[in-house]
Amino acid sequence: MAKLQGFEFWSRTLGGARHVVAPMVDQSELAWRLLSRRHGAQLCYTPMLHAQVFVRDANYRKENLYCEVCPEDRPLIVQFCANDPEVFVQAALLAQDHCDAIDLNLGCPQMIAKRGHYGAFLQEEWDLLQRMILLAHEKLSVPVTCKIRVFPEIEKTVRYAQMLEKAGCQLLTVHGRTKEQRGPLSGAASWEHIKAVRKAVAIPVFANGNIQCLQDVERCLRDTGVQGVMSAEGNLHNPALFEGRSPAVWELAEEYLDLVRQHPCPLSYVRAHLFKLWHHTLQVHQQLREELAKVKTLEGIAAVSQELKLRCQEEMSRQHGEKPASDLPFFHWICQPYVRPGPREGSRNAGACSKRALEEEEEGSTEVVSKNKQKKQLRNPHKTFDPSLKRKHYSRRWGWGGGRGNRCVFNLCRGCCKKRGTPATTSHGLLFKTKLEKSLGCKGSQLGLQEPQQAGPGAPGGFSEVVGSALA
Ligand SMILES: Cc1cc2nc3c(=O)[nH]c(=O)nc-3n(C[C@H](O)[C@H](O)[C@H](O)COP(=O)(O)O)c2cc1C
Repeated sequence: MAKLQGFEFWSRTLGGARHVVAPMVDQSELAWRLLSRRHGAQLCYTPMLHAQVFVRDANYRKENLYCEVCPEDRPLIVQFCANDPEVFVQAALLAQDHCDAIDLNLGCPQMIAKRGHYGAFLQEEWDLLQRMILLAHEKLSVPVTCKIRVFPEIEKTVRYAQMLEKAGCQLLTVHGRTKEQRGPLSGAASWEHIKAVRKAVAIPVFANGNIQCLQDVERCLRDTGVQGVMSAEGNLHNPALFEGRSPAVWELAEEYLDLVRQHPCPLSYVRAHLFKLWHHTLQVHQQLREELAKVKTLEGIAAVSQELKLRCQEEMSRQHGEKPASDLPFFHWICQPYVRPGPREGSRNAGACSKRALEEEEEGSTEVVSKNKQKKQLRNPHKTFDPSLKRKHYSRRWGWGGGRGNRCVFNLCRGCCKKRGTPATTSHGLLFKTKLEKSLGCKGSQLGLQEPQQAGPGAPGGFSEVVGSALA
């Protein structure tokens, strides 16, 4: 059967989806997607996967896609970052049987994307993008779609969208922020840009940005004329956003934890979800916040959830509708949006601090446990192990925010780093910067490092670039 295109693809394959959950590294995993679908989401994206790693690493494919295949999880779009037409298509061919379309991430504005040369940092490379989309359109059995950020100029954004459409892109998600609008500088997304793109192309368009509640969804559809609306942070803070409901936070937490029991994922994802879901209430119940940061098992997290529920219910029965003197939301136990303070609210530092706080909230739990370990943990809830000693190979690698500490200059886990070490490197993995190297500030060549074969130009933070910047 010929592959469906544009509007036909959207209406028939995607069922005319209007409510879309965004691709989110470490956060749009299967359990969360299923939760969101139960509460009004009609289409979900996987987290961004790295095309080159997907091609070369069977475990990465298994952990990030093949083990996450589930009939209720459709329609589904798999997102890749890539900067090479052949690699992008090879990765997409390996994924296409498990999804309804392949998306190219052209919106990531993070430093890691800059170093790896992908996401929004391909925005000016129209010739390369054309070749990537053309080849994917020609070779894949499913449509190719793109997620972009806008340029400051509406007119250039429109030409950019038209270029992608002409190359074969069948659906476009427009995040109405420029690549400079990130972190505390995020600000509002421009629906004007999105509206102009919508008018200028003949493929379906999804709008992304400024969506915090169902009224925003409806307003966005009306004001921009787009086919669907995508939400990331709004969905993380209230997965029932598309239903127009604001349930009690423990209700959705319990439902999510049940889904995680059925479809295990790293504990760090679960923790990060609960930090966001419970954002407001954890400011009141600080002690539970600390407990959530500390617990090491899913059942431990479930116990914190139960305690949070009891405390909130007690508080509700005590309050009798009287508003306490506090800046916090009155009903802090209700799922609700978190509005990041902008740079102008308070000092510049205050903005930086709040971003930092947000990052810490996400990263406070950076220990990452492999899915197998997670399953083992579910079977042996009393077994303890120190996750700080292990890092999942790729989960923070392309992540939002990235981890800190003694990291491999290729961002590999310690085990992979050792394997990649050349004979010139010692067994502890000299690709990790030691204190001495840091203090010496010496170059890779001085340390006897050689560029490993696999680290091609597409590898995020290729050798010369990363070693150059990390060790120089
Ligand atoms: C935790 C997190 C992870 C994200 N990961 C991705 C990703 O993998 N791919 C992508 O294209 N965008 C990613 N984004 C960006 C979102 O998809 C979205 O474009 C952005 O957050 C703006 O939407 P919002 O205003 O609804 O949050 C991520 C955002 C967040 C908050």
